[in-house]
Amino acid sequence: MSPGILGAPWGMPTCLLCTCLGSSVYCDDLKLDSVPPIPKDTTHFYARYNRITKINKSDFAFMNKLKRIDLTANKISSIDDTAFLGLPELEELVIRENHISQLPALPETMTLIDASHNNIGSKGIHNEAFKDMTSLLYLYLTDNHIDYIPLPLPDSLRSLHLQRNNIQSMLEDTFCNLKDFNYIRNALEDIRLDGNPINLSRTPQAYICLPRIPIGDLI
Ligand SMILES: *[C@@H]1O[C@H](CO)[C@@H](O)[C@H](O)[C@H]1NC(C)=O
Ligand SMILES: *[C@@H]1O[C@H](CO)[C@@H](O)[C@H](O)[C@H]1NC(C)=O
Repeated sequence: MSPGILGAPWGMPTCLLCTCLGSSVYCDDLKLDSVPPIPKDTTHFYARYNRITKINKSDFAFMNKLKRIDLTANKISSIDDTAFLGLPELEELVIRENHISQLPALPETMTLIDASHNNIGSKGIHNEAFKDMTSLLYLYLTDNHIDYIPLPLPDSLRSLHLQRNNIQSMLEDTFCNLKDFNYIRNALEDIRLDGNPINLSRTPQAYICLPRIPIGDLI
C-alpha cells in the first residue's frame, strides 16, 4: 500500500483493516459493529455484510467527496436523520437488508436509493422526500411495509420498485397530470407493484402518460 493515495496519513488504521484502492474503501465482511473512520478523500465506501447497528451523525461528517455508500446486509436499526444530509456529492445510498423503519433525509444530489428489505412503513418516509431530487433515477423500496406511493416523484425517475409492500390504491394523478394530457413522463419505464393488494384496473387513466404500464398482480 503506498502512502498518500487518499491523502490519508500513512498507516491510517482503516486502510490496514479494510482495503483502500484509489479513492474506494472496501470494508466488506469484517464483523464491524460501527462505521470505522475513513480517509477524507474517499469517494466510494463499502461495508457490506457486517454487524453495524447504528449510523451516527458523526460517522460521515465532512466526507465531502463521498459519492456512494453501500451498507447492504448489516443490522442497522437506526440512522441519525441528518447523517447523510451534509454530503454534497452523495449520489448513491444502498442500505438494503437492514432493520431500519425510517428512511433518513438525503441530499438532492441522489441518483440511486436502495432501501429494500427493511421495516419502512409510510410514516418512515419524510413528506415529499424525493421531490427535489431532480437527478434521481432509481428508487428501490421492495419488501417493506409501505402503504402508499411516495409523492411527488421527480420527472427524472426511471425505476420505481415497490414489490411486496402494502399498497392498496393509487390516484389517477399519481404518475400523470390529468389537467394536461400533453404531459408525458418518458423516463419512468419500470414501475413494479406486484406483491401489493392493489387493483390496477381501478385507475385506468393513471398510466396514460407513461411509456409502459406498471407491473402488478392480476387481481
Ligand atoms: C455514536 O455516537 C455516540 C455519541 O454521540 C457515541 O457515544 C456512540 O459510541 C457512537 N456509536 C457508535 C456505534 O459509534
Ligand atoms: C378490479 O377493478 C376492476 C375495475 O374496477 C373490477 O372490474 C374488478 O372486479 C376488480 N377486481 C377485483 C378482484 O376486485
